Amino acid sequence: MLDAVFFNSKQNSLDLLDQTLLPGEIVTVRCFDEEQVADAIVSMKVRGAPAIGVAAAYGIALGLLNKANHQTSVADALNRVCKLLAGTRPTAVNLFWAIERVKKLVDQSAGNDFMAVAATALQEADRIKAQDIEMCRSIGRFGAEFLLDGQTWLTHCNAGALATAGYGTALGVFRAAKEQGKKFSVFIDETRPLLQGSRLTAWELLQENIDATLICDNMAGSLIRDGRVHGVVVGADRITSKGFVANKIGTYPLAVMAKYHGVPFYVAAPVSTFDLSLSYGDEIAIEERNHDELRFIGDKQTAPADIKVYNPAFDVTPPELITAIFTDRGVIRPIYKETIPAVIGAAEVFK
Ligand code: MRU
Repeated sequence: MLDAVFFNSKQNSLDLLDQTLLPGEIVTVRCFDEEQVADAIVSMKVRGAPAIGVAAAYGIALGLLNKANHQTSVADALNRVCKLLAGTRPTAVNLFWAIERVKKLVDQSAGNDFMAVAATALQEADRIKAQDIEMCRSIGRFGAEFLLDGQTWLTHCNAGALATAGYGTALGVFRAAKEQGKKFSVFIDETRPLLQGSRLTAWELLQENIDATLICDNMAGSLIRDGRVHGVVVGADRITSKGFVANKIGTYPLAVMAKYHGVPFYVAAPVSTFDLSLSYGDEIAIEERNHDELRFIGDKQTAPADIKVYNPAFDVTPPELITAIFTDRGVIRPIYKETIPAVIGAAEVFK
């Protein structure tokens, strides 16, 4: 299975498949400390909500290892490292969920032996990674029940193995359906500005031998209208207690079009993506990224250098546009404040 976030115990490094270079180049970047991990998250060498959580968890372990010879306490080092990693990207709650998990455990161990607490952090990061793969497989099994033989579905951005510890959430549904022997095809939204659909999802689905066709984002509406899409499935970066879903910019208009044309719109996400401390979509911090992401495609300038730009990386879809949420613990449908904890429980989710 594709392993885009790998802790290399021989080198004491976090090895990341550089997602900014895919599909043209397959390059692994090696991070030896928390600053390199933080930089990899900001620059999106590693991206996708669960994957950045896993990377940050390993980043804490590396940070503690590296602070061993500095004149500081474990508590102080831990706070600094966690603050750095938490400041990388604001929208995906999985990042904060993973950091909290590791931090709590290290805090509880209350030791001042850097090697020992780094080992504790590393074990927890390994657990988070292994659980994420299990959660994705489970999401895939629940979601694949909804994908019928002969159908064509549409997905946006990349919610695949690259965006998780492996297997994927939305793409996990396709992987599971394929494992069940179903025949189906997938339209992939290109996903401007950073092209996670054409660069990453297309690459992943080709490797899986899943019948996939690339479209640019503004083609989705007419395909849905023409009855050529039987279901839409996307991942999520944060889901509130009332079921508002933040995901890659362009998700909301897909949900509107799907609703208008009576096509089911599904979200696939693990429990680590739920943030029960928030109720409504406007409470979610939406990352605004560098304006050059719109003025350039790769190295090619495609807009005047001084044109004003607005570049939010995510949008929010309200629960009434979502047919169901596939989680690792079951399917939430319909989506209300009451149906969410009934499926996922409330114990482990971010709150
Ligand atoms: O900016 P990105 O590429 O990190 O955004 C990723 C998405 O929006 C994904 O759909 C989401 O994180 C779910 S990944 C399983």
